[in-house]
Amino acid sequence: MLADIVIGLQHGDEAKGKVTHHLCKTNKYTHVLRYNGGCNAGHTIYHGGKKFVTHHIPSGVFHGIKSVIGSGCVLSVEQFFKEIGELEEAGINTKGLVFVANNTHVISKNHLDEDGKDTAIGTTKRGNGPAYRDKYNRKGTLAKDVPELQDYLIDLYEEFHEKGEVKVLCEGAQGFELDIDWGDYPYVTSSHCTAAGALLNAIPPSWVRNVWGVGKVYETYVGAKSFEPDDPIFPSLRDLGEEYGATTGRPRQCNWLDLDRLTKAIKVNDVNMLVLNKTDVLSELGTYRLFSEGSEVALSSMQEMQKFISETIARQVKKPVLTFFSGRKDKI
Ligand code: IMP
Ligand code: MG
Repeated sequence: MLADIVIGLQHGDEAKGKVTHHLCKTNKYTHVLRYNGGCNAGHTIYHGGKKFVTHHIPSGVFHGIKSVIGSGCVLSVEQFFKEIGELEEAGINTKGLVFVANNTHVISKNHLDEDGKDTAIGTTKRGNGPAYRDKYNRKGTLAKDVPELQDYLIDLYEEFHEKGEVKVLCEGAQGFELDIDWGDYPYVTSSHCTAAGALLNAIPPSWVRNVWGVGKVYETYVGAKSFEPDDPIFPSLRDLGEEYGATTGRPRQCNWLDLDRLTKAIKVNDVNMLVLNKTDVLSELGTYRLFSEGSEVALSSMQEMQKFISETIARQVKKPVLTFFSGRKDKI
């Protein structure tokens, strides 16, 4: 029995899809499990030369692997069927591959309407927060009670514990800085984006092999708080990095990498495999800055920046973290 976990270490949009895609190709997983969030997430995946943006369906479907929406998620039934339709239309087989845990909560029309009025947090307006609120208020609706979902239901306990050997890739949504407990409350999402969040879906701690933490060599954030410093370099960074939301199309606010917060995310989530994406964007910009130990640091090249990051992490984390730096066109 084995589980690998992929999590975002920043504010979502770290290109986690690239890492899950790579892992699905190189490991014989029996399941890919989405373990938190709803259709607020937008996972951009390049498969067979085509671009796909999925919100609910785990990326296992692109590889013929059973894809499970776990009990830590909230599900929009309408979006779920829309996505299945889109994938099938694009030639991706979903039949017999997509499952919903019977104890997953669903997002209702009222949740959607209520979240649609949000201005305080800058949510994706997909009904996420109200659906989780009703779950914890014990007024929610479970997937098992939704007639349209009957053909897709599974029991996570039976699936993972009573059917033989399983090897699960746990695919996290959003990121540590948006976590309900560890993010910058209230500018957070309503689910557990940590590695611990995966365990809430019938994954015992002893199964965990690798925790893949994914970040970018700079940071982006979408939402109501002010995040981007007032400097014309950041709009340039946004355009070079194509930093516009996969779900809402909103421009993502940009800032330099905060290595102190990255270290915290690595430690809390026990990350042993680190991928820092989009190195090519800073190389194109020709500016290599980050924050470390409370100060802004200017480096002279991408190579020097990578060295600085690796050495700082090694010093602060005090256990091996295998680190990969990756540009958009690179394989991991
Ligand atoms: P909610 O998850 O829609 O309630 O939104 C709460 C906060 O999380 C807002 O700042 C959203 O922009 C942000 N958020 C939610 N999902 C994502 C995502 O997949 N990527 C980036 N930000 C997200
Ligand atoms: Mg995204």
